[in-house]
Amino acid sequence: MFSQFANSVVSETAFSVLARAEKLEATGKDVIRLEIGDSPFASATPALLAGSDAILADECHYVSSKGIDELRREAASYVSREHGVRVDEDNILVGNGAKIFQQLFCELFLDPGDGALVFSPFFPTYSANIARRGGRLVTSKLSQQNKFRPSLADVKCFLEQDDSPRAVFLNSPHNPTGGVTTEEDVADLCSLILDRDDVFLFSDEPYDQMSWSGGHVSPLAHPDMLERCVAVYTMSKSYSMSGWRVGFAASSTQNIEKLSVLANTSFSCVSPFSQIAAAAALREGNIERDERMHVFKERVERFASALQNIEGVKCLVPDGAFYVFPDVSEYCTRYGITSHGLAMYLLEAADSKVGVSCLGGEAFGEDGYGYIRMSCAESADRLRVAAEFLEMHLKDSAQVKKFVADNPPYRAMRL
Ligand SMILES: Cc1ncc(COP(=O)(O)O)c(C=O)c1O
Repeated sequence: MFSQFANSVVSETAFSVLARAEKLEATGKDVIRLEIGDSPFASATPALLAGSDAILADECHYVSSKGIDELRREAASYVSREHGVRVDEDNILVGNGAKIFQQLFCELFLDPGDGALVFSPFFPTYSANIARRGGRLVTSKLSQQNKFRPSLADVKCFLEQDDSPRAVFLNSPHNPTGGVTTEEDVADLCSLILDRDDVFLFSDEPYDQMSWSGGHVSPLAHPDMLERCVAVYTMSKSYSMSGWRVGFAASSTQNIEKLSVLANTSFSCVSPFSQIAAAAALREGNIERDERMHVFKERVERFASALQNIEGVKCLVPDGAFYVFPDVSEYCTRYGITSHGLAMYLLEAADSKVGVSCLGGEAFGEDGYGYIRMSCAESADRLRVAAEFLEMHLKDSAQVKKFVADNPPYRAMRL
């Protein structure tokens, strides 16, 4: 009854684990919520004020598909100021978050059969959006040994050997691994792309304010990349505005013109009150944002260090974003359980009163297998309790083995 595409698509695991965690909370269980990549802070204060005024002023009707001028100007000055590339409002398209631009980018550049290189593990909706256009997902594995930095050798190989290389997806700082693409990596990647005249870069930058070991480097700032790159930003993460659904893309005016036609045929426009709120946050919310980023950085470092002390867990202190991505494959092998199974054990079965909600790395493609992703979205105290919880319950072999025996789908077929 459904199309082959519809039958092939699954929704983000984070949202199904979130629903499960909420169900358990409703029964009275204390769940430490580390599954979803949402900010624990309230929306940026200027956004709350400007957004509520805008609703009362009835800024609640259709507006331009490109976005309101006020936000496009603020977004252009944000990209110019923060990332060192001179753009103006004609280089900006507003969308309802960052995610929608995956679809629009694929519609802009991919024809059926075209290859799109994705560093893996990867944000789960990339594959659906590439498939939506009949594109071919080609993966390049990120490894913990290389601090989850992209392999330029794989990019070269893709560009030289794929039948129809057309797009590269880069996400730095990276979800789920916390890896950061260095300035040198970005320069090399851009040079490889610029050597071709028909390959385009999707630069997914929702965590641009969360590069912990140095400034964020956007490929947009590399000479001549504006034509060849669509860089994507969101209000969801560092401005804590995930439910307002606002993000924006920056690229050449030619790309933005065409993207805005595609946007028009898809979501028409983004709610004007959300856009007014976003403009206020970009204009007036940066001191508050930076204070919050500081808190995030400390939490991420402390939590990762605590996990490093657990026997059998291999964990890097992430260079960016607010996710910690420990290798738990030793436990998967020991108990014959998948990493998703291990995550579900921590949520459901390790303890009847308390649970830790996180995601198995396979939620981000098979290269994530053997890892779990934990977002540092709870308080420092709760994160400390979560680390202690893991330390205590990962070694409870009787309990884990019983969980696997009771839940055959979580039985590991490999490792
Ligand atoms: C890499 C990446 N891209 C896109 C998104 C989607 O963000 P938004 O809420 O702005 O649509 C996320 C959110 O977690 C993300 O991690």
